[in-house]
Amino acid sequence: MKKKLNIGLIGCGFMGRAHSNSYRQVGPFFDLAYEPVLKAVCCDNEEQLKAFAPNWGWQSIETDWHKLLNRDDIDVIDICTPNNTHYDIVMAAAKAGKIILCEKPLAMNVAQGLEMTEAVEKSGKANMVWFNYRRVPAVTLAKQIVDEGQLGRIFHYRAKYLQDWTISPDVPQGGDALWRLDASVAGSGVTGDLLAHSIDMAMWMIGGISSVCAMTETFIKQRKLQNEPDKVKAVTIDDACAFLARFENGALGTFESTRYARGRKNQNTFEINGEKGSVAFDLENAHELAYFSHGDDSLVRGWRNIQVWDADHPYMKHWWVPGCAIGYEHAHTHALADFLLGLEKGEKKCPDFRDGLATQCVCDAVLSSANNNKWEKI
Ligand SMILES: NC(=O)c1ccc[n+]([C@@H]2O[C@H](COP(=O)([O-])OP(=O)(O)OC[C@H]3O[C@@H](n4cnc5c(N)ncnc54)[C@H](O)[C@@H]3O)[C@@H](O)[C@H]2O)c1
Repeated sequence: MKKKLNIGLIGCGFMGRAHSNSYRQVGPFFDLAYEPVLKAVCCDNEEQLKAFAPNWGWQSIETDWHKLLNRDDIDVIDICTPNNTHYDIVMAAAKAGKIILCEKPLAMNVAQGLEMTEAVEKSGKANMVWFNYRRVPAVTLAKQIVDEGQLGRIFHYRAKYLQDWTISPDVPQGGDALWRLDASVAGSGVTGDLLAHSIDMAMWMIGGISSVCAMTETFIKQRKLQNEPDKVKAVTIDDACAFLARFENGALGTFESTRYARGRKNQNTFEINGEKGSVAFDLENAHELAYFSHGDDSLVRGWRNIQVWDADHPYMKHWWVPGCAIGYEHAHTHALADFLLGLEKGEKKCPDFRDGLATQCVCDAVLSSANNNKWEKI
C-alpha cells in the first residue's frame, strides 16, 4: 500500500502544467513508497484556475494561497508562481509545517534566500528547488562520468544559455505573461531566470564557485507596459549576461546567457574539459552526450556521441524500450521521483534550499560584479 502525499500546487502557468504532469506520471513509471495526490491547486486568476483544475485532475481549488497553507489535508506546498512571491509563501508554508517544493530562482536576492533556507531547515521538513536540468539523463550521465574520475582533474567549465524571444522592441513588459521583463517581479533578467540553471549544474558537476567577474547589458532600454499599453517604462533587467568564474577546485569557468541570440529558443549547453577527457551537452539535442576520452587507442580516438537512451543510462529503464527518446517534461518527473525516493529513504537525493541559496549567492555576486565593474568573491 503506497503512502499518500497530498499536494497543494500554487500557480497554473508554464511550471504549474509541467509539475501537474509530473505528479500524474511519476506513480505509474517509478516504483516508489509515496504516491502524490493532486489535492488542491491555487491561483490568483480564477478563470485560469477553473479551466486548469479539471484538465489536470486537481480535486479542489483555492484562489488565496493563505487558505491553501491553512488546510490540514495538504502535506506539500509546490510553488510555481513568479519569483517575487516565493519568499512570502515559503515563510508562511514553513511556519505551517509543510514540505516545500519551490521553483527557481529560490528568491529575489540572497537576504531573502537565507531567511527562507533557515526557515525550512528549522521546520525540519523536506524541501526541494526544481533544478530540473540536472535530471536530463545525459546531464546526469555527465555527472556520473565526472564523479567516477573519468575526466581526471577538471580545468574548464563552459556554459551557455541562449534564447531569442525578447529581440523585438514591441514585446511589452510586466503583467501576467511578461513578468520576466519586470525586475520588481523577476528580481533579475537572464541571470536569475536562465543562468541560475547553468550555475546550479556547474556547481553540482564540479564544485563551488569562489569568485566571478561579470558584464550585463540591457539592449532595449524602454518598453511598453503590457497592462497599460500607452505607457513606457525603463527596462531594468539584464537582457544578457556573461561572466568569468573561478571554481574552488582551481578550474576556470565561462558562462553566457541572453534572450537576444536569434534562432536559439532554449539552448542550454555545457562543456567540461579535464586532464583525461571532456564531455559536452546541448539541450537542443537532449538525448546525446558528447564524450572524448584521451585514454582511447589513438587510431580511433575522437569525440563520440553517446545516445543516452539505453536501459542502463540514468532514469531510462523507467520509460520505454531502449532507443525511444524522452522529452523536456521528463526531467521534472525525474526530479520529483528523486525527491520522493529521498523522502522514503530519509536521504538527500535532490537539490534543496541550501543548494538554491548557493546559486542565489553566485547570481547576486554576478549582478554586483557587473554593476561595480570588478571581481566579486562569493
Ligand atoms: N525549472 C524551470 O525550468 C522553470 C521554467 C520556467 C519557469 N520557472 C520558474 O517557475 C516559476 C513560475 O514561472 P512560470 O513560467 O510557470 O510563470 P507563469 O507566468 O506561466 O505562471 C505563473 C502562475 O502563477 C499565478 N500567480 C501569480 N501570482 C500569484 C499569487 N499571488 N497567488 C496565486 N497564484 C499566483 C499566475 O496566475 C500564473 O498562473 C518562476 O519562479 C520561474 O522562474 C522554472
